[in-house]
Amino acid sequence: MKFAQIMLKNSSKLNIPKQVDRFSKFSPSPLSMKQFIDFGSANACEKTSFMFLRQELPVRLANIMKEIDFLPDKLLGTPSLKLLQSWYAQSLMELVDFLEKDPDDKKILTKFTETLINVRNRHNNVVPTMAQGVLEYKEAFGVDPVTNQNVQYFLDRFYMSRISTRMLMNQHTLIFDGSTNPAHPKHIGSIDPNCDVVEVVRDAYESSKMLCDQYYLTSPEVEIKQVNIKGPSDPIHIVYVPSHLYHMLFELFKNAMRATVETHETSLHLPPIKVRVSLGTEDLTIKMSDRGSGVPLRKIERLFSYMYSTAPSPVAEDTRNAPLAGFGYGLPISRLYAKYFQGDLQLYSMEGYGTSAVIYLKALSTESIERLPVFNKSALRHYQTSTEADDWCIPSSEPKKLGKYEFSV
Ligand SMILES: Nc1ncnc2c1ncn2[C@@H]1O[C@H](COP(=O)(O)OP(=O)(O)O)[C@@H](O)[C@H]1O
Ligand SMILES: [Mg+2]
Repeated sequence: MKFAQIMLKNSSKLNIPKQVDRFSKFSPSPLSMKQFIDFGSANACEKTSFMFLRQELPVRLANIMKEIDFLPDKLLGTPSLKLLQSWYAQSLMELVDFLEKDPDDKKILTKFTETLINVRNRHNNVVPTMAQGVLEYKEAFGVDPVTNQNVQYFLDRFYMSRISTRMLMNQHTLIFDGSTNPAHPKHIGSIDPNCDVVEVVRDAYESSKMLCDQYYLTSPEVEIKQVNIKGPSDPIHIVYVPSHLYHMLFELFKNAMRATVETHETSLHLPPIKVRVSLGTEDLTIKMSDRGSGVPLRKIERLFSYMYSTAPSPVAEDTRNAPLAGFGYGLPISRLYAKYFQGDLQLYSMEGYGTSAVIYLKALSTESIERLPVFNKSALRHYQTSTEADDWCIPSSEPKKLGKYEFSV
């Protein structure tokens, strides 16, 4: 018995690279918001969803597993990365198991839902585990611009892939668990076909305000204004995943509050955070402006970097700020949520004054289509960039000591 188990374990282990190769040959199929809604509305068919997911989930996992292999060896060698790879391998094999199963067997469908829940739970700690691996690598080997660029490219794709697979698994488990969501009977899985944007802004503000009050004993007010192209004061609704929108807004509010309070620590009055929500024909735009004294332009890109912004360790941090600041992943992950359905998140700052963060989402559900990484030749090229010299001159900090009309040869 024991021997048979070991044999099975080994043979399935040998099988993993084969399955990764097999499924990474397919490109992921991005779904539109409309397709997500159709999968879950009145004519929802668990069998169709099952047959789609048992192929699509392995394809998405295998595509990103291929890219993991191109990370620097020293990063792959960390215990965190080894653990992470084992989770992906295990989940891939569990899902592939369903390919030969009978979709008309109700028991199989139930077992599939259980497997999805197991896979989702197994991957709960992927973000902190990956961050830990990056941190260990950084502490041991430092950061150079080329590694930073590769890791940034990879992690944006890796976390995006994770957002997408979780979305697929959530939709299936929420829609086919046989119950309706009592708090939100109109939701389709995690999607609100009538998402009230200003309400989500208010919810995110309130949660952030609670944390801010707790730690600073004060917090800035919020001013929300909206404009709707269809009728200036008509409420603004979009088809969206409220939890994704909430996540982005909560991160932005925490940053804006922290900057505001710390800048105006000694003054009696805190300038309010101003939020403007605007619905056009193409974009739904949310701008959040604070007067938290801003960030110099040179540093803006770095705020989105996983390697540069990973905080050394929570203990070394000023603990007073801990609840309002995390390990520096707030902005990059929020930007991924915005990009996931073809939107974006950008920061515009005026050093000395304040910052505006802008979330762009698609106004139309027909344009909200998943944005997914695919492993192909152009992806491969990104990991093979050599340490070539920059094609722009590096400004020298020492002015050359030449005579007025001299030039060096
Ligand atoms: N509105 C803002 N005003 C000033 N600095 C900001 C603002 N938003 C973000 N930052 C800076 O960007 C850094 C990274 O933000 P974030 O990704 O949310 O990570 P964290 O908040 O965990 O540090 C913050 O630590 C802060 O220094
Ligand atoms: Mg933050």
